[in-house]
Amino acid sequence: MRWMNQMNIEKSLFAVVLLSSGLGFSIAASSSPAGDQGMEYSANGADTCLLCHTEAWAYPIYPIFKTKHANRADKRTPFAGLQCEACHGPGGKHATTGSKDAINSFKETSFLSVRQRNEACLGCHQGNARVGWVGSTHETSNLACTSCHQLHVEHDPVLARATQPEVCYKCHLKERAEFNKPSAHPVRFGLLTCSECHSPHGSIAVAMLARPTLNQTCYTCHAEKRGPFLWEHAPAAEDCSLCHSPHGSAHASLLKKDPPLLCQQCHAVAGHPSVAYTSAALPGGGGGGAAFLLSGGCINCHSQVHGSNHPSGIKLMR
Ligand code: HEC
Ligand code: HEC
Ligand code: HEC
Ligand code: HEC
Ligand code: HEC
Ligand code: HEC
Ligand code: HEC
Ligand code: HEC
Ligand code: HEC
Ligand code: HEC
Repeated sequence: MRWMNQMNIEKSLFAVVLLSSGLGFSIAASSSPAGDQGMEYSANGADTCLLCHTEAWAYPIYPIFKTKHANRADKRTPFAGLQCEACHGPGGKHATTGSKDAINSFKETSFLSVRQRNEACLGCHQGNARVGWVGSTHETSNLACTSCHQLHVEHDPVLARATQPEVCYKCHLKERAEFNKPSAHPVRFGLLTCSECHSPHGSIAVAMLARPTLNQTCYTCHAEKRGPFLWEHAPAAEDCSLCHSPHGSAHASLLKKDPPLLCQQCHAVAGHPSVAYTSAALPGGGGGGAAFLLSGGCINCHSQVHGSNHPSGIKLMR
């Protein structure tokens, strides 16, 4: 990660991060004399913490040692530097008293605000996908990094396709219902997941979409719908969601309505040259006429509803 190249996980730097976030911890290394608030680092880093927070501790601490954060060979990680306190902040006082008022738990009950807790992570994670974080809907809705992420588990559920949706559904109940509809993107089968269409850390697009426009987001997987087409169908080039519900729908093919109603939102039936195109005029056609035309669904004839590359596909029929 480029963002960490110039980053040197030093105690002083951590203190600067904290100070700039208004925490007011004294710049105290383990060797410094106690500050006003007694907020200094513990004497032996994780070794101190683990004296009390043993494997028998009710909250499982140890799985963190199986994660990237514990990779001491990587100088950017917490465990190559201040260890537990790189995230939890100076814990010298806590380590002598066991008082929970002297250590940031990252929980709602923490003495730090959401913003201050997030800054403990952003001190190392400002770049890449988090560029859009500040000002994003999630940031302004006061979400914490830990609303989605778990750090003391071997596999953070939000990072895996199969387990991510449950994390989001904690707050997004409507979306769970949408993905359970008869026609839906196969999120519930683990074939794709929220973060393939959305950037949960924020983006420049509407609805925090992963690409600058809605259509570009769809084209990442449905490239054949991008064209260019000899004969474009204007609404398809403009906005897929004019006809499709991106999450799920009661109608086939994720459609918002079934044809002909779908089409008739924009196309007047009256304008259609129905006389010349009764089914009698079609190869193998019989009776039926206008009744077929209106009930059979427009896409029986206009099958190339996303655009056509056929020289005579101007009416989107081939
Ligand atoms: C002397 C034993 C002891 C040591 C050493 C110790 N802790 Fe604790 N820690 C406790 C106890 C006891 C609690 C539970 C406090 C409570 O629930 O009131 C606790 C709770 C915590 C909590 C949760 C606080 C909360 O608000 O629920 C965190 C986070 C924590 N410790 C981190 C650390 C870190 C990091 C270190 C090393 C710098 C450390 N502890 C060292 C005894 C210790
Ligand atoms: C990469 C950052 C990070 C590091 C490093 C880290 N923790 Fe944590 N820790 C967290 C977060 C985030 C939580 C909140 C977990 C949650 O919300 O479920 C937490 C929670 C805790 C809790 C409280 C759990 C509870 O609900 O009572 C304790 C105790 C704790 N950590 C101890 C430690 C100890 C000891 C170490 C070092 C061995 C350590 N942590 C290293 C991020 C970290
Ligand atoms: C001292 C710096 C540091 C701190 C503090 C820190 N991280 Fe990290 N984090 C890292 C590094 C380094 C990696 C590994 C990056 C890599 O391998 O590309 C990492 C990886 C991650 C990953 C990806 C894990 C994976 O398996 O791919 C997540 C998620 C993450 N951190 C979230 C957090 C959160 C949330 C916090 C705050 C509670 C936090 N980090 C605090 C340095 C830090
Ligand atoms: C709304 C849920 C959510 C919140 C809040 C959230 N994340 Fe994430 N984060 C995700 C998801 C989902 C992924 C995996 C998909 C991806 O890479 O975009 C991820 C991936 C990551 C990664 C590893 C992949 C990468 O991009 O490097 C890091 C590091 C990370 N988040 C840090 C943070 C930090 C720091 C915060 C707080 C400022 C935060 N996240 C807040 C959902 C969230
Ligand atoms: C802790 C609660 C919480 C979690 C967990 C959560 N969100 Fe959200 N999300 C919100 C809130 C609050 C809003 C803003 C109000 C709303 O639109 O419901 C929001 C808005 C959104 C929006 C609309 C953004 C916009 O600008 O219109 C998207 C997309 C979104 N979340 C995706 C996700 C995804 C994907 C995940 C899982 C990786 C997730 N959320 C997890 C609380 C959460
Ligand atoms: C196939 C792509 C795709 C997937 C997968 C996807 N979304 Fe969306 N989502 C969209 C699009 C496109 C929109 C914007 C809809 C619009 O503006 O008409 C959207 C909108 C949203 C909104 C805002 C809704 C509103 O009413 O403003 C939320 C919240 C959301 N998605 C959450 C999720 C969650 C949670 C998941 C995973 C369980 C998810 N999305 C998976 C494409 C997707
Ligand atoms: C990350 C990949 C991905 C993205 C992005 C994506 N899709 Fe899909 N889409 C799929 C997959 C996978 C299927 C299921 C294919 C299958 O069942 O054969 C699918 C199926 C569909 C279907 C057919 C559903 C059915 O019941 O036959 C429609 C319509 C559709 N997507 C529209 C969209 C639209 C509109 C967007 C943009 C908002 C979009 N997709 C973005 C992966 C994606
Ligand atoms: C004018 C309405 C309309 C618009 C706009 C539209 N579609 Fe469709 N789409 C349909 C209809 C109708 C079907 C069903 C076709 C069928 O059953 O033969 C369909 C089917 C699909 C399918 C599944 C069958 C197939 O052809 O692969 C996908 C995927 C799809 N659309 C993606 C998209 C994408 C991506 C966009 C935006 C670029 C888009 N659609 C815009 C009407 C539309
Ligand atoms: C959101 C509005 C909208 C919807 C919904 C819509 N269309 Fe269209 N359609 C248009 C526009 C705009 C044009 C371009 C008209 C023009 O160039 O005069 C067009 C062009 C066409 C044409 C070519 C007309 C010509 O004169 O070349 C056909 C055929 C067509 N649409 C069929 C359909 C069918 C079938 C459906 C339903 C599956 C449908 N449309 C849904 C807006 C829509
Ligand atoms: C039986 C086949 C058939 C069905 C079903 C059908 N159409 Fe057509 N449609 C045609 C043919 C053929 C033309 C070309 C007329 C021409 O070239 O003048 C046409 C032309 C059009 C045009 C362009 C009109 C123009 O002025 O050139 C639109 C828009 C259109 N149809 C929409 C629809 C809609 C909406 C439906 C469903 C309500 C529908 N069609 C059902 C065969 C059909």
